[in-house]
Amino acid sequence: MKPLALALILLAIVFTCQAQDDPNMGIIPAPASLIKTKGWFTFSKKTIIKADRPNDNAVLLFKEFLSNNRGLNNRIIKYKPKSGSSSGVILTSRGAEGLPAEGYKLTITPRKITVIGKGPGLFYGIQTLMQLFAVDHAIAENLPCLVINDAPRFGYRGMMLDVSRHFFTVEQVKRVIDLMAAYKLNNFHWHLVDGQGWRIEIKKYPKLTQVGGTRQQTMFGTNRDWPEGLDYTGFYTQDQIRDVVKYAARNYINIVPEIEMPAHSDAALRAYPELMCTPDTSVKNPARTTGIYCPTEETFTFLQNVLTEVMDLFPGKYIHIGGDEANKQPWKESAFCQALMKQLNLKDEKELQSYFIQRMEKFINSKGRSIIGWDEILEGGLAPNATVMSWTGEQGGIAAAQQKHNVIMTPQTTGLYFDHYQSRSPLEPVSFGRYAEFSETYNYEPVPKVLTEDERKYIIGVQGNLWTEYVPTVAKLQYQILPRLFALSEIAWSKPEKKDYKTFFEQRLAKHFARLDAMHYNYRVPTAFATIDTMLVGARFTMEPKTFVPGARIVYTLNGRDPLDTDLEYNLPIDFNIPPGEKRIFKTVVITPSGRRSLPTSTVMYNQAPVAAVNYNDNNPGLKFTLVKGTFTSADQLDYAQKDTSGIAKSFETKEFRRTRPNSGVFYEGYISIPADGVYNFSLGSYNDTQLFVDNEILPENEGAISLLKGYHKIKVKNFYTAPVPGVRRRGNPPIRIFMTAPGSSDKKLVTADMLFN
Ligand code: ACM
Repeated sequence: MKPLALALILLAIVFTCQAQDDPNMGIIPAPASLIKTKGWFTFSKKTIIKADRPNDNAVLLFKEFLSNNRGLNNRIIKYKPKSGSSSGVILTSRGAEGLPAEGYKLTITPRKITVIGKGPGLFYGIQTLMQLFAVDHAIAENLPCLVINDAPRFGYRGMMLDVSRHFFTVEQVKRVIDLMAAYKLNNFHWHLVDGQGWRIEIKKYPKLTQVGGTRQQTMFGTNRDWPEGLDYTGFYTQDQIRDVVKYAARNYINIVPEIEMPAHSDAALRAYPELMCTPDTSVKNPARTTGIYCPTEETFTFLQNVLTEVMDLFPGKYIHIGGDEANKQPWKESAFCQALMKQLNLKDEKELQSYFIQRMEKFINSKGRSIIGWDEILEGGLAPNATVMSWTGEQGGIAAAQQKHNVIMTPQTTGLYFDHYQSRSPLEPVSFGRYAEFSETYNYEPVPKVLTEDERKYIIGVQGNLWTEYVPTVAKLQYQILPRLFALSEIAWSKPEKKDYKTFFEQRLAKHFARLDAMHYNYRVPTAFATIDTMLVGARFTMEPKTFVPGARIVYTLNGRDPLDTDLEYNLPIDFNIPPGEKRIFKTVVITPSGRRSLPTSTVMYNQAPVAAVNYNDNNPGLKFTLVKGTFTSADQLDYAQKDTSGIAKSFETKEFRRTRPNSGVFYEGYISIPADGVYNFSLGSYNDTQLFVDNEILPENEGAISLLKGYHKIKVKNFYTAPVPGVRRRGNPPIRIFMTAPGSSDKKLVTADMLFN
C-alpha cells in the first residue's frame, strides 16, 4: 500500500472514531438525554412497523422516507400491545402520558425500536430515528442501540421567510417547511406583506394583489436583480395558502401570518391610496409617503376585513401585525391625526401607534387570537396581551419580559438575521451589510441573564429571520439559511448544557451536509480555513486546510489563481519556507461530492523584513479627515473623487458627516504608536466599505499581519457610506471598526485616541 493511501485510511478511521465519540451520535438538535447501550438493531426490508394508527402523519412520513430514500416498502400494521412477542419498529403513544409537551422516548434494542410520543412527540421521535439511518442507501441498516428521552427547551421555535421583497412559490416554501420539520422547528412566520409586494389574496380587496402584488423593476439602485422595465410580481391564492397551512400542520408546524401595520404598507397603499393620510394644507414640503396607514375608521375597517380573511385561512393562535420601523412623519403632518391625538389625549405619535396596535389587538383578541408585534410596539405603551418579537436587539425583549409579556427572541445583533453576510469575504453573494458567522448563531443564548427567574419564563422561544431584499432566487434562499438553520434548531430545542460548538461543527454537522446533498438543498460550504483572507508574517509555515463535509476535496493553488476542480488536491500538511522578502499565496476551495464549492480562501505568507518607524515629533491626538464627494460602491473609487472638506476627527464615527452628506467618502490619516518590535495583526470589522493602510501598504482584504519596529507608523483609513433607502430595511453602512492585535495579546479595537496627527 502506498503511504498516502494508508494515511488516508488512518485518517478515515480517526474520523469515524471521533464521530462515534460524539455523545449526541450526530443528532441535530442534541437530544435532552441519550444513553448508548450495547449492540445493534438490523433494519431490513423484512422489518415490520407497528403503529397505533398506520395512517398517522408521522407514520406516513417514515414510510415515505423508507420508500423514497431506500426503495423499501416495509409492512405497516396496527400495533396491538397484548399480542405476544414484539419486535420490529413500534410507533405508539402508549406510555406517553408522563412525557413533557412535544417530548418522545426512543429506545433501540437488538430486537426492536420503540418510539413513544403523542402527536408532535411521535413525529419528532421519528425524525430522530431517521437521522440515525445512514445517508447512503443501504439494503440493511445497523442502527445503534440506545435510549433517548427528549423534549424541547422552548415551545416556540421559529423561522421567518419574507416573501414580499422576493416571492417564493408554494413548492419552494414547502421545501423550507420540510427542513424546519426535520430539525424540529415548529413555527413558520410568513412575512406576506411589505412595502415591495402584497402576496396574499384578499377576496374583499382584489387590488391588494392586482396592484400591490406587482412592482416595477428592481429593489435597489445599486443591487439590481431584475431587468429594468419588467414587472416583478407574484402572490398566493387563498387555495394555495390553505394548501400550505395544511402541509405545515401535517409537519406539526404552525404558520404565523404577518400583515404589517401601520408602516411597511406601501404595497397596500399603492392599491388603496385613500387609506393614506393627507398632509395638512399648511405643510410646505410634506413627507414622501412612507407607507403608513392613516388611523382613520376607514383604515380600521379595512384592516379588520383583511384580518378576518387572514384568520379564516390561518387557524393558529398568533397573528403578527408588524409594528416595526414606522416613520410617523405623515401623522405629524396630518390635521386628522393631530386632532385625533388631542381627542384621545395622546401625547405623541408613538402613543398614536400604540392606540392603533391596541385597537387591532382588541379586534384580534375578540376572535380568540393573539397578536405578535416587533419590539417597537413597546413604544407608547404595550398592547395588553401582545407577544413581543425582539429584533432591534435584546433590550425590547427584556423590557417586555419585565412587563410580564411573552417574548420571542430574534435579535439582529446575534446571528439570527439570516440575510446577513456569512463571512467577511468580498466574494460572498451580496447581502445585508452586517456579517454573522455561523458560530454566532450557534453561541446565542436566548434567555438574557439580567432577567429574574420569574421573568425568564416569558422568553417563550427564538427565531431566525430571512429577509429577502437580496434574495432573488431559491438557491440564494437556501444558501443564506443553511447551515445556519441547524444552529437555530439546536438553540431552540436543546438545553444549553448540551451545546458544544466544536463537536457540533467538526463532527455532527458532517452527516447533515450529506443529507442536504441527498435532498438537493443548496448550502454554504464552509471554507477550508476559518479566516478566509489573511496575511501571515514569517519564514516557515505549515498549511493544514480542513473540511468537515463528508467526501469533500480541497483543491489549492500557489500562483494566486482561484483553484479549479483540476488543481492540486490537498491530502497532507504542506510545509513552506519563504525566502527573505518574498511572499507565497496559498489558495483553497472545498468541493463537495455533489459539486458544491466553498468560497476560495487566500493565505498570503510573507517573509517580511520589519518596517522601521517613521519620524513623528508632535503629540496631537486624533486623525486628519478628508471628505470626498460622490456615491461610491468601492473604496478604490475614493482616490478619483473630488475633495469636499477636511478637518480633525476625534473618532471614526461618520454620523455627523451623514447629517449633511448622506453619501460620501472619507479618508482618515495620521500615526499610530507601536509599543515594541513585533508582528501586529490588523483586521476590519466592517465589510468592503473600508480599507486600511499601514505604512502605505494596504491590508489585504480584511485581515493581515505586519512586522513593525517600535515607534510611530503611518496609518490611513478609507471608508464610504451611502444613505439608507426609504422603505428598505436596515440599509446603510455599519460603523468603522478596526482591530489591532499586538504580539501575545488579544484583539483591541483601535479608536482615534490611539492615533496622532501632525
Ligand atoms: C425588522 O427587521 N424590521 C423587523
